Amino acid sequence: MAKFQYTKENEEKFQITAKKYPKIDAMLLPALWLVQEQEGWVSPEAMIFVADKIGKQPIEVYEFATFYTMFNLKPIGTYHIELCKTLSCMLMGANNLKKFIKDTIGIEPGQTSADGKFHLSEVECLGACGGAPMFALNGQYHENQTVESLKNLIEECK
Ligand code: FES
Repeated sequence: MAKFQYTKENEEKFQITAKKYPKIDAMLLPALWLVQEQEGWVSPEAMIFVADKIGKQPIEVYEFATFYTMFNLKPIGTYHIELCKTLSCMLMGANNLKKFIKDTIGIEPGQTSADGKFHLSEVECLGACGGAPMFALNGQYHENQTVESLKNLIEECK
């Protein structure tokens, strides 16, 4: 099994953040976020690395990583589209955006495009209901979206 390591920069971030917590095991979530920021997903090797770092069992890290849907447990595309599927976004046309993604990129929620560029996830409310319909693209919010604006964004990413 290939060993996971933080980059030098992420190791520094880990150390700085750890100083804010009274106990190192409180670093579980921040440590996983750093992994995902670095790799785009959280591999079993990275879970073992995190467990080692914060003095937990790998199974405990696994339980956290699999509980929170925002952690990717397998490699995903370069561009991760997290489309909100909750009420306000649904009422304002999220399904049209989903259909457009399927028709143009050929992916449904949970799938990565054949070229590895795009991955689509359907997620619960991202707290930007006033800007419905919305999605996050690599963590950045895009609100008040239309099929036209989505089309432009996808073109920019290609
Ligand atoms: S319902 Fe979509 S952001 Fe809240």
